[in-house]
Formats: sequence, C-alpha cells, structure tokens
Amino acid sequence: MLFVEDTIRALFRKYETSAKSVIRRNIQIVHNSNQINPSIQEHFKRKYELIIARIEDNQRFLNWLLSEPGSDVVEKHNVDSHNSTPALSSTTTTTSMLETELTQDEEEMFPSEFDDVLMKENNTSSDSSNDESYQSGSSYHDGSSFSYQSSTSSSSPSPKKSKSSSKRGVRWGPNTIIDKVLNLFLLVVRDWSSEGLDERVQSYNPFYASLERYYPSVEQRRDIKVICPGAGMGRLPYDISMLGFHTTLNENSLFLIVALKRIFSGGVNDLNSQTLYPFIHQTKNITDEHTQTRRILIPDIAIGRKDEPGANMSFAYGDFFDIYSPQVSPALTSLSTTTITSNNTNINANINANPNTSNKFDCICSSFFIDTVENIFTLIERFHLILNVGGLWMNNGPLHYHHDALTSFHLNSTELLDIVRSYNFEILEYKLIDCQYTKNKDSLFQAIFNCVWFIARKIK
Ligand SMILES: C[S@@+](CC[C@H](N)C(=O)[O-])C[C@H]1O[C@@H](n2cnc3c(N)ncnc32)[C@H](O)[C@@H]1O
Repeated sequence: MLFVEDTIRALFRKYETSAKSVIRRNIQIVHNSNQINPSIQEHFKRKYELIIARIEDNQRFLNWLLSEPGSDVVEKHNVDSHNSTPALSSTTTTTSMLETELTQDEEEMFPSEFDDVLMKENNTSSDSSNDESYQSGSSYHDGSSFSYQSSTSSSSPSPKKSKSSSKRGVRWGPNTIIDKVLNLFLLVVRDWSSEGLDERVQSYNPFYASLERYYPSVEQRRDIKVICPGAGMGRLPYDISMLGFHTTLNENSLFLIVALKRIFSGGVNDLNSQTLYPFIHQTKNITDEHTQTRRILIPDIAIGRKDEPGANMSFAYGDFFDIYSPQVSPALTSLSTTTITSNNTNINANINANPNTSNKFDCICSSFFIDTVENIFTLIERFHLILNVGGLWMNNGPLHYHHDALTSFHLNSTELLDIVRSYNFEILEYKLIDCQYTKNKDSLFQAIFNCVWFIARKIK
C-alpha cells in the first residue's frame, strides 16, 4: 500500500539533508577564508544554524499538515537535530548528498502505478516557460535554491541514472517534488494566513463582491451552485460557501489534495496555532536574514466550522476535465485507476462518497486557473457545458501560460474574450486588476500580474 503522505515527508527529509549539506559547505568556505574576519564568520555560522533549525520546523509543519486530524504527529527526523550542527572544523561536504538519484527507499515508494499520477501532476502544473523568474515547478513564484541539482558545483558527478530516474528522468525528479512541497507552503500562506490577506483582497474580493451583487438574496444562495476549478488551497471556495452559496472545490494536485483533506476535515480551529517558515528556502533577492527567516502563522480564521449555517461545500478532487467530462455524468475517475492511498483512505472513495457533486452549476469562479491548462478551447467549451443557461463565469488571473506555445494555444486577452463570446457567452464586465501571487513581501523580487477579470453570462 502506498501512502502519499509518507512519500512527501520522505522527500522533504531528503531536501532537508541536501539543504544542510549546502549550508555546511558555505560555512566551510567562509571558515577557510583568511580574508573574512572572525566576527563575520561567526555571523554566518549563527545565521546558517538558524536556517537549519527553521527547515526542521518546516518538516514539523509538513508532518502536521499530512497527519490525520486528531492523531499524534510523530516526529520522524532522522537527520541532525537543532543542536548538532557540526562545528566548523568538522564540516564536510559530500557531493553525493547532492545527487539527484532516488534512494532504494524512494524507489520502493514509487511503484509503477504512481507513474501515471506523477506524470499527470507534472503535466498539469509544470511551467515550461523560459522566463527564469518563474521556473519553479508548479507556480508563479521565485524558485527554491537549496536544490538537489548541483549544477553550480563543478566537482559534482553528473546524476547517475537509477531505474526510476531513467524512467522518469527530469520530468519527475526529487527536485520537482520539493518544489511542489515548497509551493504547497506558499499556497497555504496565500490562503490561510494574515500574510496572504493583501493577495486575497486583490485576487478574491472581486469574486465576493460580484457574487453578492448578482445574487443579493442570502436565502436563495443555498440553491446557487458555484464551482471553483483549480482551487489551490481552497480559500476562495471556502469563503464563497460562507457567503451562503453551495460551493464545489475542484483541485487535482495530489500534494494539495492531501493538505486540503487536513484543512477541511475539521479541527483547525485554533487561530495562528501552526508555524511555518515558507521563505527559508529563498536565497535570492534577499536584503537581510529576516526576509528569509520570517515566521508565518496559520490559520488566520477557524477552519472547519462544518456546523455553521452556510458552510456548504463539496469536494471534487481530480482532473477537472475528467470529472466534468461530456461522456460520463458525473465522471469521478481521475484517481480511480491508481492504488494511491492517503492515510488509509482511498482518495477516490472520498470523492465518490460525496453526494453533492454533480455536473451542472450556476456560477464558475476561476482564479489563476485558465492559463494553467493545456487546451484553453477545451476549457471554455467545458465551462459552457457545465453552466446552466443564464449562469455566470467569473474569471480573475494572468495569461502567463504554463504550457509551451508548441503544445498550447496562447490567446491574448482580446482574443480570449472574442473566443469566449463565440462559445455563446456575453461579456458583462471586463477590466484588468493588479494581483500578486505567493509573494514574499520583503523580497527584492516582486511580480505583479495585470490579471484579466471578466464576468461572462451563458446565453444559450
Ligand atoms: C496557479 S494555481 C491557482 C490556485 C488558486 N486558484 C489560487 O488562485 O490561488 C492553479 C491550480 O490549478 C490546479 N489545476 C491545474 N490543472 C488542473 C486540472 N486539470 N484540474 C484541476 N485542477 C487543476 C493546479 O494544481 C493548481 O493548484
């Protein structure tokens, strides 16, 4: 039986080991330089010890996020504890720690049935643009720096091809997985911390304001079905459900699904009770230590208020195109062919057990989603299919297409609206809105997307 959570934890531990080896190498370099005075050497040693401690704290956060609600989170550190950072004199850097090869254990954690899902996951959220600033796997943010790939180290051997790496190659190396874990942290911050409030105001408030305007009767909202495809860590559908709408959260990233299950299974009620250091891996565009080591607390609100009136949510975990396929109604099949198991609960069983999932909606709210799919025409067609006549599609997000122009059609915003109209929608509103996405507010690198906001109504 394969446990997704164990795989993610094991790979994060490997990242932790890798990062520590980089840090020890840096301490050694500083220590060996006669030019650098002892007080600065001492500064680096102290700073790097702090970073190591924070990475270990992130491991604890990850363990919590992947644990069953109510269960004791078992610490699984098999690497140095906080206090055992080696003294400068004993620091060793072994290039083998930086190799990309999977260990025997990891090989066993990746039986062949995992391949399909990993491939799918990688295809869905990969960012194949050549824009260096955004080459961080599944998202729009600045990438991690403590990576496995030791391309900067001329002394490191080229990665050996293990059975699995030759099969998966660069498409699905541990590095990609680590980026996904770090991306998961940033999405948790975006959706469930006070730090993310600015971003949520920019990205999500237009949805809330428009929903309240188009559906003013609170009593009638429970009969209005809203779907948020590609919902990330789920704050948008959650808040919409709190406005009284019947809301469906759709998401297909396995990494996010296991975390979503934790967030929404009840019991995350204690405000600011969990600590994470999401920027600790960012070593570029930093002004000072604080920028990198800043602590974030979650949640900013009590989640899991299942008993509250209005909290009316359904979960459609899996590929949007598979679930809302024209052939099967509803087709909840995307994960069903695998034996991937999450904490003894088959993810697919969870989906099918959800009685509220059906394939027709009154409103679609897509945030930072439409540019992540490969075929935007199919997406528009599918949105048209699942909307009732008169239903609304609200969109906010960039056109920072994640898939290469060779495999995907990159519409500009004018073309996008024309195509939407040609699928029997009328455009009720259109404007551009400045939004940021998983930012570190203290970083020297800041990206602002001029996001395409529109509301379209299905006319027939
Ligand atoms: C850029 S993120 C945006 C997340 C969230 N909507 C937000 O605004 O923060 C895009 C999300 O869409 C998900 N996604 C991409 N393709 C998908 C598909 N075919 N079905 C379901 N989810 C998908 C990704 O896993 C990712 O979480």
